[in-house]
Amino acid sequence: MSLQGEKDRILFDRAKAVIPYGVNSNFRYWGDDDTLIATRGKGAYIWDADGKRYIDYRLGFGPIILGHGYPAVVERVQEAIGDGTVFAWTTPYEIELCERIARMCKVDKVRLTNTGTEATMHALRIARAYTGREKFIKFEGQYHGMADYFMFSTASAHPGALGSRRNPINAPATSGIPKGISQYVINLPFNDFERLEKTIAAQWGDIAAIFIEPLLGNAAGIMPRPGFLEKIRELCDQYGIVMVFDEVKTGFRIANGGAQEYFGVRADLVTYAKSLGNGFPIAAIAGKEEVMMTIEPGAMAHGGTYSGNVVAAVAGIATLETLEALPVIETINRRGRALMDGIREVLTEADIPHYLPGLPPMFGIVLGIEEEPHDFRDYFRGDGELYERLVLELIQRGVQPDGDAREPWFLCYALSEEDVNETLNIFNDAIKAAKQ
Ligand SMILES: Cc1ncc(COP(=O)(O)O)c(C=O)c1O
Repeated sequence: MSLQGEKDRILFDRAKAVIPYGVNSNFRYWGDDDTLIATRGKGAYIWDADGKRYIDYRLGFGPIILGHGYPAVVERVQEAIGDGTVFAWTTPYEIELCERIARMCKVDKVRLTNTGTEATMHALRIARAYTGREKFIKFEGQYHGMADYFMFSTASAHPGALGSRRNPINAPATSGIPKGISQYVINLPFNDFERLEKTIAAQWGDIAAIFIEPLLGNAAGIMPRPGFLEKIRELCDQYGIVMVFDEVKTGFRIANGGAQEYFGVRADLVTYAKSLGNGFPIAAIAGKEEVMMTIEPGAMAHGGTYSGNVVAAVAGIATLETLEALPVIETINRRGRALMDGIREVLTEADIPHYLPGLPPMFGIVLGIEEEPHDFRDYFRGDGELYERLVLELIQRGVQPDGDAREPWFLCYALSEEDVNETLNIFNDAIKAAKQ
């Protein structure tokens, strides 16, 4: 059975005629019969072309922290753009936004960009320029954007392609990357203290940076073991390695000050995007004075025609203002806890082993396991097929998480208690249908 209604299908056929696979990002392609067309979003809901409403837990892959079309953000952008959108001069909006980020996230300096990919790409260059080293460590199952260097052993990697835990292989996530790029990348299993220490002891002189999603936002929200982030901090200090928190998903979502505040660990560089603009394209690279000041006109490049443009900067200001003025994260946490508890209850009643990693604003559901997964390899012990069937049943009934269990459920401030209850009722029906 197809998820598409009549109008979805007609529009998707038009899309495929001019856009490869009918989508402008591969992650959005769910097959020819199940890729939907969104025509509207308001608060916690989105509608497809046939007018069907969905409670939205994808939230555009995470950015919608307040709600779709949040008036305080939309109106501020509308007011501002009549006076121009891009000037190739610094605007007061950029100054205000960077001051806010610096205060909320306790960072010294900030540069704005447009997407998470641009932010991580520049963070890597800064780290290399700062240290004079070329390699970097990332963790399996982590995704840091579309730049060639990061496209190894991401969440789309097949477990068999990762090699042994002792000697992990860089599994390319795409064709089209020059062979030589892989030599600069070291992928390690997350939460493996011993492997990390041994790798650094052997190769520290070549390692510019360690890139970390503080919780695995692209692998079901797997959490760091107690002390793991602190251990990375300690090793980075000891060996002069730049510690980079990729907070594209966690930033302005798990706390107003992101993962640095939540886990109480300070990185040298931090990348933000998604929730920073409640759905407007904005991102940032931020961090410690000494590291950020590696950026230097004529010497170390960071740039972009649209970096800090008025639409993005004003959306950022309005979003952060709302986060500080209203109990946004507190409310999302409350609703998320109720949802997680309810889901656990339904799954236990249905006699389905499960573990929900992550935090209430972004959590995963791994079916078929009972023990906590600690890395991307553990994740594969779960029952991904049952999860896919569950999601199809949920979507047919008007609840929309991502079809892939690696993508967390995201919550927004507009999600009400009634929405949570409706979701749980639907979840109860959907899991029964999926089990059959
Ligand atoms: C942790 C992380 N880093 C970077 C990116 C790339 O961000 P963008 O899609 O805005 O380029 C993503 C996207 O999902 C992400 O989750």
